[in-house]
Amino acid sequence: MKEKLSHPVFKLVSEASCELGFPAYVIGGWVRDLLLKRDSKDIDIVVVGSGIDLAARVAEKAGKTGKLKVFKNFGTAMLRFDDWEVEFVGARRESYRLHSRKPIVEDGSLADDMNRRDFTINAMAISLNKDDFGSLFDPFKGQKDLLEKRIRTPLDPDLTYSDDPLRMMRALRFSAQLNFEIDPDSFEAIKRYAHRIKIVSIERIMDEFNKILLTPKPGQGILKVHQSELLKHFFPELEALKGVEVINGKAHKDNLLHTLKVLDNLAANTDDLWLRWAALLHDIAKPLTKRFDPEVGWTFHGHEFLGSKMVPNIFRSLKLPLNEKMKYVKKLVLLHLRPIVLSESIVTDSAVRRLLFEAGDDIDDLMLLCEADITSGNAAKVKRYLQNFEVVRLKLKEIEEKDRLRNWQPPVTGDDIMQTFGLKPCREVGIIKTAIREAILEGTIPNEREPAWKLMLSEGKKLGLSPVSTTK
Ligand code: CTP
Repeated sequence: MKEKLSHPVFKLVSEASCELGFPAYVIGGWVRDLLLKRDSKDIDIVVVGSGIDLAARVAEKAGKTGKLKVFKNFGTAMLRFDDWEVEFVGARRESYRLHSRKPIVEDGSLADDMNRRDFTINAMAISLNKDDFGSLFDPFKGQKDLLEKRIRTPLDPDLTYSDDPLRMMRALRFSAQLNFEIDPDSFEAIKRYAHRIKIVSIERIMDEFNKILLTPKPGQGILKVHQSELLKHFFPELEALKGVEVINGKAHKDNLLHTLKVLDNLAANTDDLWLRWAALLHDIAKPLTKRFDPEVGWTFHGHEFLGSKMVPNIFRSLKLPLNEKMKYVKKLVLLHLRPIVLSESIVTDSAVRRLLFEAGDDIDDLMLLCEADITSGNAAKVKRYLQNFEVVRLKLKEIEEKDRLRNWQPPVTGDDIMQTFGLKPCREVGIIKTAIREAILEGTIPNEREPAWKLMLSEGKKLGLSPVSTTK
């Protein structure tokens, strides 16, 4: 273990702790990641004594007093060593109140401090003290749980989770990230205490949720969030996708399981968080648009339109950004059926042009989402869809090369129209602009200035306008 503590910061902490008589230990995530052979530059030092005083002494010894950040209210201090971030905190004993995540904190021993941690794999410490420098303290058999890939709480899970309900989401997040099983007792406790997640801020819940979304199999991770009964408390729209209804012997598919499968399919091809969000939300309006038609069975007409309308409200309630990321997700939800509809009919140039025009630069992401959406168990059907998709992809490429519609700028602008006919902004300008765009998308004229200009003149004439300027 000693050779793993070669970073100069450990030596400095060791010396400073000896000088002050405060035993110090590296604890938590850094120790876990060291044993998992994962690189981490976030170090937590727990001090049996004042974390702030020890940090100040270390900073002084390193000539880095300017880099010390002290958080008096929390009794913690942070020091940067290049890209290493070292946090110092006094060992604590905590007790929690029922309706708040804010604990009552008292000074405690190393053992007290380890007791109050979330999981056995996060409750290991390495001594930085002279006489046993490098010794591992593992009171709850965290090493064994690492080997056996298990998430377990050091104390009775009821106590650990009711103390800090965010830990329920952390359990699911670590399980997804590390591909570990949650101990069955722990999982049952999460189910019992799931309602307590309500005292946790949605931002913190979403931090964990997004970390699950970024794992290699996010669908499997989110399924566990559902199975643990947490999901319904903070994301009821997603929870509502669960279930199958049967009428006249006809069942629809379970839309939650389908969505999570799509997400896993997509995750194999992208690390992008927002594209993954688009997969998560692509069918979000299915419960609201579900109808049973005795002739055709279950339908979800318009779920893409309603779903895209739901995106801003969902982002708002989950405190996700309301910027261009939200607009991107909204757009992909709206367009998610288009390539498949296209592939099922004769792929006309004008339909491809319209799709390129509407999707713009997001066309490749849209195609990835659509391909991931094919989850049928019928191999022949999947093969047919994928072949049709190849046709759509080829056609998209061909049309894009020919017509450059991906980031379309009208070859004749509103300003051109106003100048030519001596107009101020008015309805007629819009009518002419739309006519030009439609003609290009329909393929009646090429995407070029000359023919667009001619069309502008003839459309103007139809509206009773005559040119006042002939400059092109
Ligand atoms: N911890 C805890 N309960 C929490 C949050 C954190 O007991 N709700 C403890 C754990 O011992 C954890 C340590 O504080 O290892 C540091 O927490 P944090 O930095 O949030 O997480 P890491 O375990 O370092 O993991 P990651 O960096 O992946 O978030």
